[in-house]
Amino acid sequence: MKHFLQFSDLSLEEYDYLFKRIALIKHKFKSYEKHQPLVDRTLAMIFEKASTRTRVSFEAGMYQLGGSVVHLTTADTQLGRAEPIEDSARVISRMVDLVMIRTYGQDKINSFAAHSRVPVINGLTNEFHPCQILADIFTFIEHVGDPTNPLQCLKGKIVAWVGDGNNMANTWLQAAKLLGFKVHISTPRGYEVDHNVTQLGSSDCYKVFDHPKAACQGADLVTTDVWTSMGFESENNARRVAFNDWCVDQEMMSVANPNALFMHCLPAHRGEEVQAEVIDGPQSVVWDEAENRLHSQKALMEYLLLGTL
Ligand code: CP
Repeated sequence: MKHFLQFSDLSLEEYDYLFKRIALIKHKFKSYEKHQPLVDRTLAMIFEKASTRTRVSFEAGMYQLGGSVVHLTTADTQLGRAEPIEDSARVISRMVDLVMIRTYGQDKINSFAAHSRVPVINGLTNEFHPCQILADIFTFIEHVGDPTNPLQCLKGKIVAWVGDGNNMANTWLQAAKLLGFKVHISTPRGYEVDHNVTQLGSSDCYKVFDHPKAACQGADLVTTDVWTSMGFESENNARRVAFNDWCVDQEMMSVANPNALFMHCLPAHRGEEVQAEVIDGPQSVVWDEAENRLHSQKALMEYLLLGTL
């Protein structure tokens, strides 16, 4: 049994398979061709934080695969009344085939997985957002690569990360180490990536820049996220000051490669971490990126339950 708790949980070979499978599943979806390998399987989705994309993509995706879903939140389950996470895992995993959790600390999802009889998927924690990066990298491959050889187009490419050293940044770094591209990262002072979390060892998969424009120089993809992630709202005022210069604008995009893409996991705040002219401009692929959450998570759920087909 495999869990998907962070990007480093799967191997290069597994990602090669998954990216090819996502392309096939997306093609079937676009052709209105039924693809229902998960008939009679049930996914429990546990949300301790708000969501639009993750909720819709997992729920629609599981139904499209022939299965069904149970939607749980802290507010309407015993999770919100202090039932231990280990007990919740033991019970829920006896009743469903797969669990997706969006929560706060990675320790919580790790504990759930350790006591679960079924695969567990990280739908976002404070530390990682692996489902988002799976979709983002597929989107990059789709736009610049060869779907029959998905990993090839990533070699030597530069991803510029502008902004918070958060769960998205951590996950991009794990992906870069595994898949062979580089992350040029620029965060305000005090908001750097925590390498106790990323566990990159001596990898040279990233380079740190003081100035965000310098990080964008020669990049093949420029990406960012909100200044204040969910769970950090009490820091909002301090972050507004610290992140003022970390706003992706046309000047930053102009020093990236001419064909560079722009991505944002959404929701976005135009005029804060990104200017409208960028996110709504010709280099932005944010709507493909959002849609690809559906296709990539369908491939992931199929893989975790059925293995390679
Ligand atoms: N990007 C993302 O995870 O979106 P939601 O918070 O809407 O699920």
